[in-house]
Amino acid sequence: MSDERAENRRFWEEEERKLDELMYQAVWPGGEEAVKRLAKQGKQPVRQLIQKLIDEGTEFYELGVIAGFGMNYPEVDDVPCGGIVTGIGKIHGNWTMIIANDSRVKAGTYFPITLKKHMRAQAIAEQCGLNCVYIADSGGAFLPMQADVFPDDGHFGSMFYNMARMSAKGLKQITLSTGGNTAGGAYIVFMACQAVMIDKLAYSFLGGPPLVKAATGEVITAEDLGGARVHTQISGGADYFCRTQDEAIEKVREILSMEPPQKIHIHRYEEIPPRVPVETIYEILPAKIHQGINVRAFIQAIADDSYFVEYKKTYAPGRGDNIVTGKIRIKGIPVGVIAANGLGIIFVEAARKATEWIVRCSYEKVPLLFIQSSPGYMVGSESEHMGIGKYGADMVRAVSCAQVPRIQLVIGPDNGAANYGMCGRAYRPHFLFATMRARTSVMSGRSAAEVLLSIEERKRASEGNPMTEGEKQAFREKMIEKYDGEAHPFFCGARLLNDRVLKFREIRDWLAFAFEVSLLKPIGEPSFGNFRF
Ligand code: COA
Repeated sequence: MSDERAENRRFWEEEERKLDELMYQAVWPGGEEAVKRLAKQGKQPVRQLIQKLIDEGTEFYELGVIAGFGMNYPEVDDVPCGGIVTGIGKIHGNWTMIIANDSRVKAGTYFPITLKKHMRAQAIAEQCGLNCVYIADSGGAFLPMQADVFPDDGHFGSMFYNMARMSAKGLKQITLSTGGNTAGGAYIVFMACQAVMIDKLAYSFLGGPPLVKAATGEVITAEDLGGARVHTQISGGADYFCRTQDEAIEKVREILSMEPPQKIHIHRYEEIPPRVPVETIYEILPAKIHQGINVRAFIQAIADDSYFVEYKKTYAPGRGDNIVTGKIRIKGIPVGVIAANGLGIIFVEAARKATEWIVRCSYEKVPLLFIQSSPGYMVGSESEHMGIGKYGADMVRAVSCAQVPRIQLVIGPDNGAANYGMCGRAYRPHFLFATMRARTSVMSGRSAAEVLLSIEERKRASEGNPMTEGEKQAFREKMIEKYDGEAHPFFCGARLLNDRVLKFREIRDWLAFAFEVSLLKPIGEPSFGNFRF
């Protein structure tokens, strides 16, 4: 192995070790003490419950694990895991979205990031046609931030709006209440298609005992106001009474045992493992983010049999192959690929080829994988005069309108309009995965520093106080640190700009899972509107 390959490998393994550390903090908020406190209340850590809820021996595909770190909210900087666990697992063989408050994080209350994560999980469920199970254990809105979580679209009320709309579409909304569900939180129980409550653990009321006393003078315990007995025997607001969390989990499984089996809407071939070992990814991806990559070698490490049928391979060498297009299978699922190659700068020819391929795959009803490592479209007069604006826009239009499932995987720079053309968050990919090599920002730190420096220089000169060389260098360094910091997968993952930061060795498994889930709904007919070409 060459020195460079060995060095790359050491570098990425160390980067993924840092990811492991952060994920550990997310999964064990409050450490052993918090687990003991839960046990005293008769509760298990939330992931333990989820593992019992899903089919034995199957995997829970957890999303947004590093959400909520470094948020700088009032009172708290970190909200481990965003205070809520979301992910997809199989219940009686059917993929199901699970959304579960983690009461170890400020009593499972909703911060802005908690809401965003909850809503993102609901959006995935709706887009893919998944039933939802809510494990509700939340003190409701995080009160010091009520203005940021309560009144707006996308705030608290949207969770219930989504439940109602999904239920109307036939997607089951099941709530297992295992803690306090006060005020707005009570609707997570009452809006459910079916709700399970646990004796002396679960409470649901529009106003808790202190509010009731203040409002009406009535003195009443939480149990008598809105405990499991009240709602399953008197109000009828919940449907099943259980004594323990384990019994409640079994009840939810029972409720979902009569669901019809899901099926995938594409022919799935027999799976063939790649011939190129996964370790290759660690060796071929340069530690330097802005160094070019050989994306064909990357594709071989994730594709069945390492087999890639490349489309227009010989077209416009040096200009057309900054984007590589073609087909692979991932665990037997056919996938159309649009992948940034080399330095990833998208020339007119590459944009046209990509657009053509997206349209072709849409007509063939083949789902799309965007492998993003592009710092942007080619700039300059030659490119502008050749129509990079309109051809880039055509690519963005094709990405926006393609009706097939689309997944984005970021393995390098992800800047400017290339974020759009390669199916970034705003283009609503079914899933968006990052890796430790992803850098998502409007432009790279270096470019941003130069743009901002030229503005600052002009301003200072007009004030008659021109910048010294030392000041310019300090300004550059500060901007590079800021922009590169904000592009980092930890920063983006904390804000849920991706659905998960994957380790290189997880990519194939996660893509297969994500395409399978995305294909549970039939694929519609293509319709693209007004292309310019
Ligand atoms: N907003 C902000 N912080 C809250 C909160 C809220 N709505 N509810 C709880 N917390 C905080 C507590 O202050 C405590 O913080 P600390 O660990 O820094 O001291 C932490 O969350 C744990 O709360 P605690 O009351 O100790 O947990 P518990 O398991 O004994 O009780 C509840 C959980 C949810 C039953 C209880 O906290 C409660 O009734 N909260 C208020 C609920 C409410 O009225 N919400 C209305 C908003 S819609």
